[in-house]
Amino acid sequence: MKILITGGTNGMGKGVAKVLATINNQAHEVIILCRSKDLGEAVIKELNNTTLNNKISIILCDLTKLSAVRNAINKIQSEHSFLDGIFINAGLGYAAKRVETEDGMDSHFQVNYLSQFMLTLNLLNLLEKSESGGRVIFNVTEGGEIFWDDMQMKKKWSFDAGIHQAMAAKRMFLLKLHKLYRSKKSSSLSFVGFQIQQTVWSNQLNIIPAYMRIMATIMKFFGTFISIEKCGEIMAPLFTENQDDSLKKSGKFITWKKNRFVDIKEDMNILNQESQDRLWSISLGLCADEKTTQIANKLNKK
Ligand SMILES: NC(=O)c1ccc[n+]([C@@H]2O[C@H](COP(=O)([O-])OP(=O)(O)OC[C@H]3O[C@@H](n4cnc5c(N)ncnc54)[C@H](OP(=O)(O)O)[C@@H]3O)[C@@H](O)[C@H]2O)c1
Repeated sequence: MKILITGGTNGMGKGVAKVLATINNQAHEVIILCRSKDLGEAVIKELNNTTLNNKISIILCDLTKLSAVRNAINKIQSEHSFLDGIFINAGLGYAAKRVETEDGMDSHFQVNYLSQFMLTLNLLNLLEKSESGGRVIFNVTEGGEIFWDDMQMKKKWSFDAGIHQAMAAKRMFLLKLHKLYRSKKSSSLSFVGFQIQQTVWSNQLNIIPAYMRIMATIMKFFGTFISIEKCGEIMAPLFTENQDDSLKKSGKFITWKKNRFVDIKEDMNILNQESQDRLWSISLGLCADEKTTQIANKLNKK
């Protein structure tokens, strides 16, 4: 399998990258989309040494910039003729204040959702060329809502609300993609939302304020957290399972409980088709990228 992982330099993404690079006799190829060349190269070196897999590469992309997303798309398209899977994972967590991107958007909205909306749409053609059944796994959590009147959170901001709005947006996006592809007769792609049940001890622990870190350290003592490697072990089958099993999960919101994948009941506001269509149109407008709009229009016509 050839898997692209956004945010594979730390946390959950790195855990998944590490496990995928290790299992099945190092058969899988891992492409890490990351914002720092130095960190990306250090992770390649680390994974080469620890997993003995030499099929690990990076694609540079700072998700706060739509221009960087366009460049990354072009680079992936020129270097790869297919992809078997994408892990939509990269995300900002804690932030002390609202930061606006150079594209004029709230950073959580752009990094955690919009840039990866654009990335996904532009890589669907490579997933369609997979011989194993292309799949997109979205790293999502329950709850969240779209602030239709203040999507960029200029009036009211909190990092928590920003994270959750992006989670809601990703879940609506995957449902829309699922529906579009299911309406095609020969659909081979799956779109799955996965929520990790336990908190993962990720790089976020180095970013949060000291008082939060102290609380987390106490909670770690009581076994509340899992390692990034454990997270990778739980999630890896979503990327390596056969096409039929992956297709059965498409359009679902799932988690891992009692050693198996189980469904999570989706919220009515996320299932609402009008809202999904509305968010889709707004997102295309915000991307303001001709190729992305063409892809979306073509998909809608199929
Ligand atoms: N930790 C949990 O328990 C948990 C649970 C459920 C969901 N999540 C979600 O999982 C995702 C990953 O979180 P994590 O806890 O693993 O956090 P993390 O350790 O901080 O990892 C975040 C990843 O996203 C990358 N990233 C951040 N901003 C970026 C940008 N502008 N451009 C490109 N890449 C960027 C980071 O790159 P750098 O390495 O360069 O910083 C890093 O690789 C987030 O969406 C989070 O909300 C986490």
